[in-house]
Amino acid sequence: MSRAHPDLDSLAFLVGTWKGHGNGRYPTIEPFEYVEEAVFTPGPGKPFIAYRQRTRRAGGAEPLHSESGYIRPGGPDGAELVIAQPTGIVEIHTGEIGRDEVCFRSKDVRLSPTAVEVARVERSIRVVGDTMRYRLSMAAVGQPLQVHLEAELTRV
Ligand code: HEM
Repeated sequence: MSRAHPDLDSLAFLVGTWKGHGNGRYPTIEPFEYVEEAVFTPGPGKPFIAYRQRTRRAGGAEPLHSESGYIRPGGPDGAELVIAQPTGIVEIHTGEIGRDEVCFRSKDVRLSPTAVEVARVERSIRVVGDTMRYRLSMAAVGQPLQVHLEAELTRV
């Protein structure tokens, strides 16, 4: 079996399958709660971590958001993130790696012709032991940058 690429050492805290619960809000929508499964898999021998997640509404079966992408090392203490969403949104981020933490800011957000307007996204992910907490903020639909999602997941 191939080992993870050594350039991924500082991002290794992300690797695994994570399950948990989150909540979402934005001024233009009703607050909501969701359950999530996220998987971070190092490319075999390659310097990237494949990422995918899917969510459904808490207490029900209704699928909500899903997305997938790649995290790449980006220079000393740096990282890059590319993500595509089925809603027609594509995010390109640069980020900084801290101790058990990575914080991304969008460098570019591109929209398919029918996607809802999203201008900026920030994503921070922190891992303590087997607990991952993340926060996603966005500037979208004419609103300033603010929190859309917060979640806590456990490594399974
Ligand atoms: C865990 C991931 C996510 C979940 C569970 C989620 C869930 C939701 C829900 C339930 C809504 C309410 C309206 C609807 O049902 O479509 C919504 C709206 C929205 N979400 Fe998310 N979302 C997630 C991630 C994202 C991401 C990554 C983005 C963009 C980068 C995003 C952008 C938006 C926008 C722009 C709206 C519409 C606001 C409006 O029309 O006023 N969401 N989201």
